[in-house]
Amino acid sequence: MVSWLNKINLGDCREFLPDLPEESVHLFLSDIPYGIGLDDWDVLHNNTNSAYLGQSPAQKGKSGFKRRGKPIRGWSSADREIGKEYQAWCLSWAKLVYPVMKKGSSMFVFGARRTIHRAIVAFEDAGFILRDILIWKKPSAHHRSQRIEIVLSRRGEKELAEKWRGWRLGNLAPIYEPIAWLFKPYDLTITDNVIENEVGAMNIADSKINGSSPTNILEIGFQPDEARIHEAQKPVGLMEYLIRLTTRENQIVLDPFMGSGTTAVACKNLNRQFIGFEINPEYYEMALQRLERETRQLRLFRESGEDYS
Ligand SMILES: C[S@@+](CC[C@H](N)C(=O)[O-])C[C@H]1O[C@@H](n2cnc3c(N)ncnc32)[C@H](O)[C@@H]1O
Repeated sequence: MVSWLNKINLGDCREFLPDLPEESVHLFLSDIPYGIGLDDWDVLHNNTNSAYLGQSPAQKGKSGFKRRGKPIRGWSSADREIGKEYQAWCLSWAKLVYPVMKKGSSMFVFGARRTIHRAIVAFEDAGFILRDILIWKKPSAHHRSQRIEIVLSRRGEKELAEKWRGWRLGNLAPIYEPIAWLFKPYDLTITDNVIENEVGAMNIADSKINGSSPTNILEIGFQPDEARIHEAQKPVGLMEYLIRLTTRENQIVLDPFMGSGTTAVACKNLNRQFIGFEINPEYYEMALQRLERETRQLRLFRESGEDYS
């Protein structure tokens, strides 16, 4: 175990997970790939559609929605397999996670609204049980829905453009992201499990929001000075919140899909141990640098005796 602990390890988590000791991890906390084609690392199926990951004119030069997460010219029968292939991919590693988790431990799985159900079924098939689906409510959302009258006008369809005036193509503003909360089944009662495995309860006293008990809607955003490295990056404060809710100091948190290392930073801030993997060498390097930089800052804060919050 020692060689994996408190490090971000470069490589495919599926190669490393079988080497972790059984029932050693207290919390699984991971923003897993979503299977929606957000970027190359997010294509987890046989991509048969050449338009997938391309750009539409509306996306050129924009900071959000740089790539298309869906095919441009309709959905072929192969494209319609995307969900099933994503689920099979999730199962390929969720069943490796199962043995390393302590009985009664929590799994927080960040996913996409379109595909989280597939990840949940994969986790259930691996042996875990769904407890809840939390909502991470963001302060704002990138939103672009095309006005269909403009598309029709460009095609010279004046009458149709008039008929469809006021209608748009796309989604409502996506202001939330789902976080599936699962747990590993335990023997006897949950109280017995808390005594034996030291997981399974919630630390509400340390998780109050403005003095009130938390709900399953979390509104925790980025700090103004938080470095932004990864396009799918999550706020450190959000990860800290979930870690504080379900673990005690020095317990072990597993994140097999580290990205920019947010989970590792949160663990360092809260004196938790972590095990992390990242397959992309560029993100891996950036995560290492971030971890070192933020650990140094934390040490300086602690030495100065100020409250780091
Ligand atoms: C959604 S992002 C995580 C972003 C992270 N929450 C953050 O705050 O930066 C998922 C990450 O998983 C990585 N990844 C994809 N497949 C992987 C695998 N098999 N093993 C390890 N990492 C993988 C991707 O490169 C990507 O950086």
